[in-house]
Amino acid sequence: MRDTRPRHTPVLLVETLSALNPARGGWLVDATVGLGGHSEALLAAGANVLAIDRDPGALRYAAERLAGYGSQVRLIHGDFRSLKAILAELGQPQVTGVLADLGVSSWQLDDLTRGFSFRQDGPLDMRMDPTQPLTAAEIVNSWEEAELAEMIRQWGEERYARRVARNIVAARATGFIATTGRLAEIVRQAIPARGPQRIDPATRTFQALRIAVNRELDGLDRFVSDAVEALAPGGRLAIITFHSLEDRIVKHALRREAGVPDADAPTDFWGRRATQPPRLRLLHRRPIVPTDAEAASNPRARSAKLRSAERL
Ligand SMILES: C[S@@+](CC[C@H](N)C(=O)[O-])C[C@H]1O[C@@H](n2cnc3c(N)ncnc32)[C@H](O)[C@@H]1O
Repeated sequence: MRDTRPRHTPVLLVETLSALNPARGGWLVDATVGLGGHSEALLAAGANVLAIDRDPGALRYAAERLAGYGSQVRLIHGDFRSLKAILAELGQPQVTGVLADLGVSSWQLDDLTRGFSFRQDGPLDMRMDPTQPLTAAEIVNSWEEAELAEMIRQWGEERYARRVARNIVAARATGFIATTGRLAEIVRQAIPARGPQRIDPATRTFQALRIAVNRELDGLDRFVSDAVEALAPGGRLAIITFHSLEDRIVKHALRREAGVPDADAPTDFWGRRATQPPRLRLLHRRPIVPTDAEAASNPRARSAKLRSAERL
């Protein structure tokens, strides 16, 4: 029989395993288990894994894939931004590593009914957790033009954000925008064609909407602090990001936790930067990126960056 399960290659797998040192024992938190690729390798290397995901569908898939590991793995439906509460509920296990491989999985992207992709037509949804109420369709059809423009500018880094927002508002006056295909068309029409395009002009608006629907950047900084707090001395933290907005947050949070002077870190109203005694040692100053071979064989890995650190 043909195997119809989604194929998924975990990103930066060798580098992540080497950062997390799974043979050390204790419990490793995989905060974004997804299809279980990283978790499977961590379990095979001897770790116990607390596997979290906000998508119940991904968890079902991971449960099947990791079933052979029995009590070595625990699957938890939840948001990693509630890490503190999740660990408290489990009786504060000793955590020797935390992994977060951010964003959406290839399975979520490829399933057109989830509405993440502008390459296929599907309902305008984009929820990682389908039990949450807010969908992309609701945002696109109800937010005011200025709010849409700001969201697209900020989270899509789209220079034509105002034109895109204006086009969306004009289009929805003629009917509810219900599908990814329709939205992609509206966005493409708003962006001036300038020679050969390296990426589809809809990419940035779709990224912004996905971030807005899932509140992807909210609480990421806090999650880094909570993960550091949870780690036993010598425990490792590894975070894989896929775009500059989340990478910037992770970079600053890790530098702050490591007590590294950070001239670009955000300041408060008085121009002061948060300082604190170091709790981490950065394992490398620059992020680790995929080798040319990995980028060639797995296009989704191309924008990945791994940052890792050790709890002091
Ligand atoms: C890139 S995939 C992870 C792939 C996984 N490392 C693997 O090897 O199969 C990211 C996963 O994180 C989940 N996710 C994203 N944000 C989350 C959050 N705040 N809390 C829990 N899970 C989240 C998504 O639902 C998705 O399944």
